[in-house]
Amino acid sequence: MQNIEIEQSIENSIKEALKQNNATLVAHYYVSSDLQALAEESGGIVSDSLEMARFGQNSDADTIIVAGVKFMGETAKILSPEKRVLVLDTEANCSLDLSCPIDEFSKFCDQKPDHVVVVYANTSAEVKARADWVVTSGSALKVVQKLHDEGKKVLWAPDKHLGHYVQSMTGVEMLMWDGACIVHEEFKAEGLKRLMEIHPEAGVLVHPESPKEVIALADIVGSTTQLINAAASRPENTFIVATDNGIFHKMKEVAPHKKFIEAPTMGEGADCESCAHCGWMAMNNLEKCLDTLNTGNNEILINNQIIDKAKNSIQRLLDFTK
Ligand code: 13P
Ligand code: SF4
Repeated sequence: MQNIEIEQSIENSIKEALKQNNATLVAHYYVSSDLQALAEESGGIVSDSLEMARFGQNSDADTIIVAGVKFMGETAKILSPEKRVLVLDTEANCSLDLSCPIDEFSKFCDQKPDHVVVVYANTSAEVKARADWVVTSGSALKVVQKLHDEGKKVLWAPDKHLGHYVQSMTGVEMLMWDGACIVHEEFKAEGLKRLMEIHPEAGVLVHPESPKEVIALADIVGSTTQLINAAASRPENTFIVATDNGIFHKMKEVAPHKKFIEAPTMGEGADCESCAHCGWMAMNNLEKCLDTLNTGNNEILINNQIIDKAKNSIQRLLDFTK
């Protein structure tokens, strides 16, 4: 069989297995194009981390298959504890999650009992359970501003770049954890400036997990969904994009006549011109999806006490962003 026929046959088997298991496939914009397309064709969703969780919660399916990374599977389980949640690879993690182990983080919080603890969605279930609020890149600004307006002090974790961006936009001083996304941290302002000189007509779209010098050059700073919407609605026909290149699949779909260029990660220590693809997201593929459905392996299991506490902090965000 040709590769394309093999792929087609795996996709058909996945669709069948999804029906048999009353399961839905929920994928992030950074996973491969075939998984994104399959999620949509089979009645699931491709979205940012917040909408992935919301979709799972509102779905009638008994099983949620998460094509993304561990914290996305955990968030889905926290919001739908009665459902079976399976991930395609239990090793698919996130540098932000890994940078913030619960014991150290708990000590950090204990030292500042007068601060409201706000954590990014890219964290473990235990860290979410220790937090007062969970936020995403699309909601962080509004939540921090609201807490500040209420006279609260904010402790922020784990992404320092997103934290500094929120601080610069709101003027709110935040006590900050020192974590970063290894993909976005690689974008280089100098290289981006050079690319902007070559394409002066291009709009510049930047995810706020990027360094502040890169954010400073952006026309739009936003979550994956906000960047995709900007690609579709803004007048420019060319965009330079500083986020994981998995997002190009959706951008090309919503704006097929526009041109998308990867922002450079080239610079000292880098060995490719743009390395902007998350190795953990790349661990998701069609074969693993079928295998997970057939075997029921890779189930996300979280203790009930953690689920109850973490759910409060996520639900606060879902209610606030409704
Ligand atoms: P979004 O919430 O903007 O999709 O970003 C989450 C993320 O960084 C996934 O890696
Ligand atoms: Fe984590 Fe960055 Fe990968 Fe997203 S792209 S999962 S933030 S390491």
